Amino acid sequence: MSKKFFITTPIYYVNSVPHIGHAYTTIALDILARYKRQKGAEVHFLTGTDEHGANIEKSAAAKGVSPKEWTDQVSAQYKEMWKELHISYDDFIRTTDPLHEHVVQAIFEKLLAQGDIYKGSYSGKYCLSCEQYYDESEMLEGGLCPVHKRPLTEVHEETYFFKLSKYQDALLKFYAEHPGFLSPKTRAHEIINFVKGGLRDLSVTRTKVKWGVPVPSDPAHTVYVWFDALINYISATGGGTVLCADKTEHREHLKKIGAEKFEDFWPADLHLVGKEIFRFHSVIWPAMLMALGLPLPKKVFAHGWWTVEGEKMSKSLGNVVNPVEIAHKYGVDPVRAFLFREVPFGQDGDFSMLSFKNRYNSDLANNIGNLLSRTLNMAAKNVGDLPQEAGAGTATLARAQELEKAIDGFYNELAFDKVLESVYGFAGELNKLVDEKKPWELAKTDKAAAAAVLLELVCGLRFISAWLEPFMPTVAQEMQRRLAPGKIEKYPPLFPRLDDEAKGK
Ligand code: ME8
Ligand code: MG
Repeated sequence: MSKKFFITTPIYYVNSVPHIGHAYTTIALDILARYKRQKGAEVHFLTGTDEHGANIEKSAAAKGVSPKEWTDQVSAQYKEMWKELHISYDDFIRTTDPLHEHVVQAIFEKLLAQGDIYKGSYSGKYCLSCEQYYDESEMLEGGLCPVHKRPLTEVHEETYFFKLSKYQDALLKFYAEHPGFLSPKTRAHEIINFVKGGLRDLSVTRTKVKWGVPVPSDPAHTVYVWFDALINYISATGGGTVLCADKTEHREHLKKIGAEKFEDFWPADLHLVGKEIFRFHSVIWPAMLMALGLPLPKKVFAHGWWTVEGEKMSKSLGNVVNPVEIAHKYGVDPVRAFLFREVPFGQDGDFSMLSFKNRYNSDLANNIGNLLSRTLNMAAKNVGDLPQEAGAGTATLARAQELEKAIDGFYNELAFDKVLESVYGFAGELNKLVDEKKPWELAKTDKAAAAAVLLELVCGLRFISAWLEPFMPTVAQEMQRRLAPGKIEKYPPLFPRLDDEAKGK
């Protein structure tokens, strides 16, 4: 079996209300997965839920249920949301799966035995929401958490440390030798400077947190959530067959996900993450893998953050945009496409319903939808049944083939915005061709010439429908159905215009 194209989202915390920002990481990876499958790759798309830690214990207590009951509920909600958003993941891991917990314990004990983990004690400023210590240089003025802008808590505890400092030089060497690893490039030097600034050993156990994976040789300690969470990428792909003494359940899991061995997946081709967790994935995670003697991922890519009407999304502000609600109202696919046309992938963006509706009208209704309906209406009159082959030898075919190469290049850089820009731009060119050639007038004098123009348009539209599939799987399939060889039927508009609403009425 050849190695799969193994790509991951982060595993989602089960203590937040999922919003459009969360959906962003997963939809992005879904687009890449669908594109790669189109190109014939054997994709393994992993996602899941991150279910340990003090916050989750607290949320469960507040709901009056056990942590396990709580995480069962929220994990199921994530699965439901991914279904609604047409996410084609191949495997879903939960950090409360016994299979995962066993791998975490095996890794902990292995690193302890080889001296990469040691026991000590720690005092510092801790953010209870991030579940992370911050030092002076990282805090905001007034000793606030840089992410939550809330006061940090002074914590003193006995803890085990992971020898992160030992890997400083090896990490710098790795970054230098693998220039594509830290992506996008604009975020690379921040990480390199952080590592150059000196790495300190990382506290990887807690005595205060009960809802976590116990350290087998010292069960008063549970494993720090981030150390636990990062290991999901190993445990979900059969790493237990390499790292655990009893391999049975891990072998069974491999069989279930259609593989024979850990190496069918490892190393990951891409870990896609938001910018706030880039450091965990590009510093701590590779150091853990170095300690384990496992190959490092090919790429870690950090995308930007979404705000809503200029504000950070939060429960207290009540401005959390629920992607499923918008999808129910306007369709899943337009929401997916909007997120990746509106903002260059890697940069921050702002969500507003007005910009969503404006783009819906201009990119989808007036451009793609209009092109499809006017082409098919005219073709029904002037062409008849659609042939298998259309547009051979035309400028449109040549242009589409050239564009396809450019699109492949954009996917290589994860420049999803440029992919869509190219597709919409091409549709715009075809609409212009209609306006110039006026097939409805041409048909009065030269029906064959009109038919040739219309088939050229059908050819272009077939390319468009394939290119849109990763972004808008359902809509693209409907386009393909309408453009398939055979009789042309009467169809409703693919994207009904959002008239009054877009004007703010
Ligand atoms: O960080 N804009 O999980 P998470 C864009 N459990 N992306 C956003 C966003 C926003 N406003 N808000 C969240 C965790 N995200 C850990 C990961 S992996 C070993 C452990 C993105 O549920 C965020 O950047 O807080 C991340 O990629 C994803 O949602 C999950 O975040
Ligand atoms: Mg987060």
